[in-house]
Amino acid sequence: MKRYCREGEIAERPHLNLPPKTFEEEIGLEGFFGPVSHLYHRVPPTSWSKIEASPFQWAEKEEVPETFLKPQCYASVPAKLVKGDFFKSHRLLFWNDDLTISIHAITSSNSIYFRNADASELYFCHQGEATLESPFGSLEVKPGDYVSVPKGVTYRWDTKGVYFLRIETFKSRFKKPETGILGQQALYHEEGIQTPKFKTKIKTEKTSRVRVQKDLKLTDITYDHDIRNISGWMGTFYPFVLPVNRIAPVMSPIAHIPPSINATFVTSEFIVCTFLPRPLEEPPGALKVPFYHSNIDYDEIIFYHEGDFFSRDNMGKGYITLHPRGVNHGPHPKAIANQNLKKRTDEIAVMIDAAKSLKVSAFARGLELEDYYKSWITK
Ligand SMILES: [Fe+2]
Repeated sequence: MKRYCREGEIAERPHLNLPPKTFEEEIGLEGFFGPVSHLYHRVPPTSWSKIEASPFQWAEKEEVPETFLKPQCYASVPAKLVKGDFFKSHRLLFWNDDLTISIHAITSSNSIYFRNADASELYFCHQGEATLESPFGSLEVKPGDYVSVPKGVTYRWDTKGVYFLRIETFKSRFKKPETGILGQQALYHEEGIQTPKFKTKIKTEKTSRVRVQKDLKLTDITYDHDIRNISGWMGTFYPFVLPVNRIAPVMSPIAHIPPSINATFVTSEFIVCTFLPRPLEEPPGALKVPFYHSNIDYDEIIFYHEGDFFSRDNMGKGYITLHPRGVNHGPHPKAIANQNLKKRTDEIAVMIDAAKSLKVSAFARGLELEDYYKSWITK
């Protein structure tokens, strides 16, 4: 994730001997102390022709609080409810001051670009395929791919149909977890990360419209040139894809390791983990299902992507659970009874543990399976 990329025609080094007739733009996070890249535009990036309030704005957040504290499950979203482009398909599910968790069932491509000036974004592709188009180049996305889009990247989705989980981080960026004694190549190697495919010549469009989110309000900026018309770029700031099959789960044959070992991306305020297929613990008598636990400082979201989820019954693909702090977590009774029948798990799921309590949108409440919490009751 810190790999320094060089694409196309670029300067000798930043600010020195730029390619002919280009204009250098430096873009980066954390006041340029974080990841930074330099782009070589053929038209100055400030040469807009119009700036105006966008005719499209995100829907206002509408919270429906829980009536009492309980484990919650939300059914997969019927695609017919959310058809549209990236903007129209946005449905907010959960949020707090630090993050949002939304779904997008995008059924048509956008000509308008999006630039998020509030948050860095992480997508998880559940179904379908899409191409992310940006001045950095294009990224092909398929099911099981994470897509990291740092705050400030201008991009749009080209797709015939794709279903994304999307997470925004407002206070810090997504980072690879510290891997300590496991070494830098643990969890996933940087060779597993797919960076944008860049072409020095593209079929340019006459104008570009960029929809910018700042303080959750949208502004449209129109340019009389194609904003992807750059000769090249270099640096450590760029969107990238991490397929889950490039993640190497860490495990012990002896004992179940706490879920934090499955961390894929961390921020200061929440963590994103990936549960992947793996062999189960071997010793006779070993506890194989996740132990009962009270992760009392976090609210836990799990998005079920593929496979049979080992510790919970009747969990469908695309279902989402919310286990708020204060209620015990743990496997369903049937999972405990059947734990010795399996030698492997085949699940793929994304977990988000948030330090601040999560709010639930009216849209998500409409999908809630009311009796989910009763599935632990055996009498
Ligand atoms: Fe849990």
